[in-house]
Amino acid sequence: MAEPGKRPITAAILPVAGLGTRVLPATKAIPKEMLPVVDKPVVQFVVEEALAAGIERIVLVTGRGKGAIEDHFDHMFELEASLRARGKDEGLAAASDFVPQPGQVISTRQQSPLGLGHAVWCARHAVGDGAVAVLLPDVIIRAPRGCLAQMVDVYDRHGGNVVALEEVPWDVTYRYGIVETGARDGSTVEVTGMVEKPKAGEAPSNLSLVGRYILQPEVFAALASQEPGAGGEIQLTDAMASLLGKQPFHGLVYDGRQFDCGDKAGYVEANAAYGLDHPDIGPEVRKRLAALLSQA
Ligand code: G1P
Repeated sequence: MAEPGKRPITAAILPVAGLGTRVLPATKAIPKEMLPVVDKPVVQFVVEEALAAGIERIVLVTGRGKGAIEDHFDHMFELEASLRARGKDEGLAAASDFVPQPGQVISTRQQSPLGLGHAVWCARHAVGDGAVAVLLPDVIIRAPRGCLAQMVDVYDRHGGNVVALEEVPWDVTYRYGIVETGARDGSTVEVTGMVEKPKAGEAPSNLSLVGRYILQPEVFAALASQEPGAGGEIQLTDAMASLLGKQPFHGLVYDGRQFDCGDKAGYVEANAAYGLDHPDIGPEVRKRLAALLSQA
């Protein structure tokens, strides 16, 4: 195995086994990752971000009732044949252009809901022996250049592990993984410590982990012996913390902004933002949102 930092990134892990309890009842019968933002399910944004960063293998860590996600990244023969026969080229492109190459999307299961760290560990046999990216599919990121692609630039410079960071108000640091930082060079910081969901007044900074990671494969050994942490769950943050000081570890205060679609207000906000951006319906959405706000 090559040294940390010289290893290629061989896979992107998407932990999609979560139950979506924060957006019930919408997620009673469909996976939260399949909720649409305008016209695309949330998970498609995240897979596109991984592919745009040059990562060719996508590993979905799924659970019971998540089959719709696998179907979404497959061709739907009957639909495509019918659209083709009727000359509906736009519909055909929308239904099939994003479908990855055969074998590019792999699924494995998290059999028990033991936490994010456990979900990532469940992917260990499917990722090859390079570095891995982890993308949390609740979070979609609107950025001039994909957040993970920005992180790959940092990885190419420094190697080791890279996490995406965002400043949050101090009074909500308890909701996130929070890092402690060393030297800063522009938007790249050295990470010297991290803690998952620190208690009020105990956060080492207000820089939060936003759900995008590039990690060395040693993280899997750390996860294998990781004791439960915050919330009684096996936390990815705790396993990453055990790599600090042994491998380079950097954070990127990425250029862009995130929407937490696992949260009702974040989900509605994402629909408004992407609706406003949408090339076909953007102007109409702007008019209707303005009218709604003026009546509110
Ligand atoms: C997870 C991570 C946390 C991170 C957050 C970002 O927490 O454990 O470190 O800050 O995602 O959304 P969760 O939101 O699953 O509780």
